[in-house]
Amino acid sequence: MKRFLAFFSMLILGIAFVSFTLSQTGSPSAQMPDNVKAAVDKACFACHNTASQNAKAKEKLDFSTLSGLAKAAQIGKYREIGETIENGEMPPKKFLDNYPDKKLTAEESKLLIKWAEGEVKNLMKK
Ligand code: HEC
Repeated sequence: MKRFLAFFSMLILGIAFVSFTLSQTGSPSAQMPDNVKAAVDKACFACHNTASQNAKAKEKLDFSTLSGLAKAAQIGKYREIGETIENGEMPPKKFLDNYPDKKLTAEESKLLIKWAEGEVKNLMKK
């Protein structure tokens, strides 16, 4: 009986941990169009999310909390997103050397740049 209880509490803890982790890393902003979300998931989200181990990346940009920032801050972030992709600075080269399949295709880059520019325009209108 004791062993069963121990096993059972470990199971509950495990489930709690997994659901917590999923809720933290779940997905980037829910408002993204699917194709944008897919590209961000592929090339950016692993470093730029709330649960990221990459403190520097998380501090600069967190896709999970982006839509909760003040308007001016969001505009700044979307501008940076467009610029870093346009200049080929993101994803970082060192990362792509290890994971070449994470490189954005030309279409994905264009899509993300256009999306970021569109978000800037939308925010300016509000
Ligand atoms: C391997 C991890 C990693 C991936 C993947 C990654 N980044 Fe970054 N990113 C970083 C780090 C680290 C920094 C901080 C760089 C610094 O401060 O020098 C950063 C900084 C940034 C910044 C802030 C730039 C600045 O000048 O402050 C933006 C915007 C950004 N990334 C966008 C993106 C986008 C968009 C993608 C996907 C196309 C992406 N990143 C993918 C690690 C990553």
